Amino acid sequence: MNCCQTQSLSGTDKFFTKQSDRYLKQFRKKGLAKEQRMLLEGISSLGLEGKSILEIGCGVGGLHLTMLKQDASFATGIDISEGMLNGAKRLCHELGLEQKATYLRGDFVQRNAMVPQADIVVLDKVVCCYENISDLLKKSTDKSKQVYAFTYPNPNIVVHISFKGLILLGTLFKWVFRPYWHDWEEIIREVEKQGFKQTYKNSTLMWQVRVFER
Ligand SMILES: C[S@@+](CC[C@H](N)C(=O)[O-])C[C@H]1O[C@@H](n2cnc3c(N)ncnc32)[C@H](O)[C@@H]1O
Repeated sequence: MNCCQTQSLSGTDKFFTKQSDRYLKQFRKKGLAKEQRMLLEGISSLGLEGKSILEIGCGVGGLHLTMLKQDASFATGIDISEGMLNGAKRLCHELGLEQKATYLRGDFVQRNAMVPQADIVVLDKVVCCYENISDLLKKSTDKSKQVYAFTYPNPNIVVHISFKGLILLGTLFKWVFRPYWHDWEEIIREVEKQGFKQTYKNSTLMWQVRVFER
């Protein structure tokens, strides 16, 4: 763990494992969420065929499994949550995509050395779940050979107040997991400093969607 990190990774695992059935049901019933369809639109416009994917904080895998169905060549999914990863493996099996995907459990920042590079690196609704954002950004941009895509909370008044409220309650009541609010504009500048140029920008009420290319 980073010297300054207070986040409990077992708490993150517990929290998202509890949520994983809901994520799985939602994907089965409704397919990709709106912000995921936007990510897919931005990434596909740069070409998916034959591309490898690394999805960090992959959840139950709906996004990278959809990209595999659309001719991406191979995907690696990593997640802290055992329940989320079990969901991803189940979906991958149901879709007959086992030959095209592999899964790793753990904190990407800590397991970074075991994680392969990929043409496309995606973090969907992950940067607000992790405290040590500078390491997460540096290590994840290093893994991308071409495309880097992520979503972050839309900093409008409603979302900002909701997040700040959750952070306060989580800290006061010592929840096993609480979200994080980072300087989102600074994060975009950091990604650009790593040699990426923004190619796609979109948003929902809750999420900002950004796609970059090297
Ligand atoms: C809000 S969920 C989103 C899941 C999925 N990306 C989606 O949009 O459906 C965030 C996920 O990121 C995972 N996560 C957060 N930080 C991570 C890290 N440093 N390494 C790996 N997984 C991480 C959590 O365990 C959780 O499953």
